[in-house]
Amino acid sequence: MSISDKECSRLNAAAQAARTFAYAPYSNYRVGAAVLTGEGTIVSGCNVENASYGATICAERVALTRAVAEGKKNFIAIAVATEDGGSPCGICRQVMVELGPEMQVFISDASGAFRSTTVRELLPDSFDGSGLITPARSKMQKTD
Ligand code: THU
Repeated sequence: MSISDKECSRLNAAAQAARTFAYAPYSNYRVGAAVLTGEGTIVSGCNVENASYGATICAERVALTRAVAEGKKNFIAIAVATEDGGSPCGICRQVMVELGPEMQVFISDASGAFRSTTVRELLPDSFDGSGLITPARSKMQKTD
Protein backbone atom coordinates (compact mmCIF):
# COMPACT_ATOMS: atom_id res chain seq x y z
CA MET A 1 0.00 0.00 0.00
CA SER A 2 1.55 3.31 -0.99
CA ILE A 3 0.81 6.47 0.94
CA SER A 4 -0.42 9.80 -0.43
CA ASP A 5 1.91 12.69 -1.29
CA LYS A 6 0.43 14.61 1.61
CA GLU A 7 1.18 11.84 4.11
CA CYS A 8 4.64 11.46 2.63
CA SER A 9 5.37 15.20 3.11
CA ARG A 10 4.02 15.08 6.65
CA LEU A 11 6.21 12.08 7.45
CA ASN A 12 9.36 13.57 5.90
CA ALA A 13 8.73 16.81 7.81
CA ALA A 14 8.42 14.88 11.07
CA ALA A 15 11.74 13.13 10.41
CA GLN A 16 13.40 16.45 9.60
CA ALA A 17 12.01 17.97 12.79
CA ALA A 18 13.14 15.00 14.90
CA ARG A 19 16.62 15.39 13.44
CA THR A 20 17.00 18.69 15.27
CA PHE A 21 16.82 16.75 18.56
CA ALA A 22 19.64 14.35 17.64
CA TYR A 23 22.14 13.76 20.42
CA ALA A 24 25.27 13.22 18.35
CA PRO A 25 28.23 14.83 20.13
CA TYR A 26 30.68 12.15 18.89
CA SER A 27 29.89 11.74 15.22
CA ASN A 28 28.05 15.02 14.72
CA TYR A 29 25.97 12.99 12.22
CA ARG A 30 22.43 13.95 13.07
CA VAL A 31 19.60 11.61 12.10
CA GLY A 32 15.84 11.94 12.44
CA ALA A 33 13.22 9.29 11.76
CA ALA A 34 9.44 9.12 11.80
CA VAL A 35 7.15 6.14 11.47
CA LEU A 36 3.57 6.23 10.18
CA THR A 37 0.81 3.85 11.28
CA GLY A 38 -2.16 2.78 9.20
CA GLU A 39 -4.31 4.94 11.50
CA GLY A 40 -2.34 8.03 10.46
CA THR A 41 -0.33 8.44 13.66
CA ILE A 42 3.29 9.54 13.42
CA VAL A 43 5.94 8.69 16.01
CA SER A 44 9.41 10.16 15.66
CA GLY A 45 12.90 9.54 16.97
CA CYS A 46 16.49 10.74 16.67
CA ASN A 47 19.88 9.11 17.13
CA VAL A 48 21.10 9.08 20.72
CA GLU A 49 24.84 8.55 21.03
CA ASN A 50 26.91 7.41 23.97
CA ALA A 51 30.55 7.80 25.04
CA SER A 52 30.58 4.00 25.03
CA TYR A 53 29.96 4.03 21.27
CA GLY A 54 28.23 0.64 21.11
CA ALA A 55 25.46 1.97 23.35
CA THR A 56 24.43 4.42 20.60
CA ILE A 57 20.87 3.99 19.29
CA CYS A 58 19.93 4.92 15.74
CA ALA A 59 17.03 7.24 14.99
CA GLU A 60 15.02 4.57 13.15
CA ARG A 61 15.14 2.20 16.12
CA VAL A 62 14.26 4.96 18.55
CA ALA A 63 11.18 5.84 16.47
CA LEU A 64 10.08 2.22 16.02
CA THR A 65 10.64 1.08 19.60
CA ARG A 66 9.04 4.22 20.94
CA ALA A 67 5.99 3.56 18.77
CA VAL A 68 5.78 -0.04 19.99
CA ALA A 69 6.05 1.15 23.60
CA GLU A 70 3.16 3.51 22.94
CA GLY A 71 1.04 0.57 21.84
CA LYS A 72 1.24 1.35 18.13
CA LYS A 73 1.44 -1.31 15.43
CA ASN A 74 0.59 -1.61 11.76
CA PHE A 75 3.50 0.47 10.53
CA ILE A 76 3.13 1.44 6.90
CA ALA A 77 6.00 3.84 6.27
CA ILE A 78 9.14 5.27 7.80
CA ALA A 79 11.06 8.42 6.90
CA VAL A 80 14.72 8.94 7.65
CA ALA A 81 16.42 12.33 7.50
CA THR A 82 20.16 12.96 7.44
CA GLU A 83 22.50 15.66 6.11
CA ASP A 84 23.44 13.72 2.99
CA GLY A 85 20.53 11.33 2.41
CA GLY A 86 22.39 8.41 4.00
CA SER A 87 20.80 4.98 3.92
CA PRO A 88 19.65 3.08 7.06
CA CYS A 89 22.22 0.82 8.70
CA GLY A 90 21.97 -2.96 8.72
CA ILE A 91 20.72 -3.27 12.28
CA CYS A 92 17.91 -0.79 11.58
CA ARG A 93 16.97 -2.70 8.43
CA GLN A 94 16.67 -5.87 10.49
CA VAL A 95 14.44 -4.10 13.02
CA MET A 96 12.32 -2.71 10.16
CA VAL A 97 11.82 -6.26 8.86
CA GLU A 98 10.73 -7.35 12.33
CA LEU A 99 8.27 -4.54 13.02
CA GLY A 100 7.20 -3.26 9.60
CA PRO A 101 8.22 -5.59 6.79
CA GLU A 102 5.76 -3.98 4.38
CA MET A 103 6.83 -0.40 5.07
CA GLN A 104 7.71 2.14 2.43
CA VAL A 105 10.94 3.96 3.30
CA PHE A 106 11.66 7.60 2.50
CA ILE A 107 15.22 8.84 2.76
CA SER A 108 15.79 12.58 2.71
CA ASP A 109 18.76 14.94 2.91
CA ALA A 110 19.07 18.34 4.55
CA SER A 111 17.73 20.10 1.45
CA GLY A 112 14.49 18.11 1.76
CA ALA A 113 15.16 16.10 -1.40
CA PHE A 114 14.15 12.47 -0.91
CA ARG A 115 14.04 9.06 -2.49
CA SER A 116 11.59 6.26 -1.92
CA THR A 117 12.28 2.59 -1.37
CA THR A 118 10.87 -0.31 0.66
CA VAL A 119 12.03 -2.48 3.54
CA ARG A 120 11.93 -5.49 1.21
CA GLU A 121 14.26 -3.70 -1.20
CA LEU A 122 16.63 -2.63 1.57
CA LEU A 123 16.87 -6.11 3.10
CA PRO A 124 15.98 -8.89 0.66
CA ASP A 125 16.02 -12.53 1.72
CA SER A 126 15.98 -11.47 5.36
CA PHE A 127 15.96 -13.57 8.49
CA ASP A 128 12.45 -13.02 9.80
CA GLY A 129 12.14 -15.52 12.62
CA SER A 130 9.68 -17.75 10.77
CA GLY A 131 12.00 -20.69 11.45
CA LEU A 132 12.12 -20.05 15.17
CA ILE A 133 10.09 -22.27 17.41
CA THR A 134 9.70 -20.66 20.80
CA PRO A 135 8.66 -22.84 23.79
CA ALA A 136 5.23 -21.19 23.77
CA ARG A 137 4.69 -21.85 20.09
CA SER A 138 6.00 -25.42 20.15
CA LYS A 139 3.62 -26.22 23.00
CA MET A 140 0.67 -24.94 20.99
CA GLN A 141 1.80 -26.75 17.89
CA LYS A 142 2.30 -30.09 19.63
CA THR A 143 0.19 -32.74 17.95
CA ASP A 144 0.67 -35.65 20.35
N1 THU B 1 22.73 6.39 12.57
C1 THU B 1 21.38 6.39 12.60
O1 THU B 1 20.75 7.06 13.45
N2 THU B 1 20.72 5.65 11.70
C2 THU B 1 21.32 4.88 10.74
O2 THU B 1 20.64 4.13 10.06
C3 THU B 1 22.75 5.01 10.52
C4 THU B 1 23.51 5.62 11.63
C5 THU B 1 23.46 7.19 13.56
C6 THU B 1 24.21 6.38 14.58
C7 THU B 1 25.27 7.36 14.99
O3 THU B 1 24.74 8.20 16.01
C8 THU B 1 25.51 8.20 13.78
O4 THU B 1 24.41 8.01 12.93
C9 THU B 1 26.79 7.86 13.03
O5 THU B 1 26.88 6.51 12.80
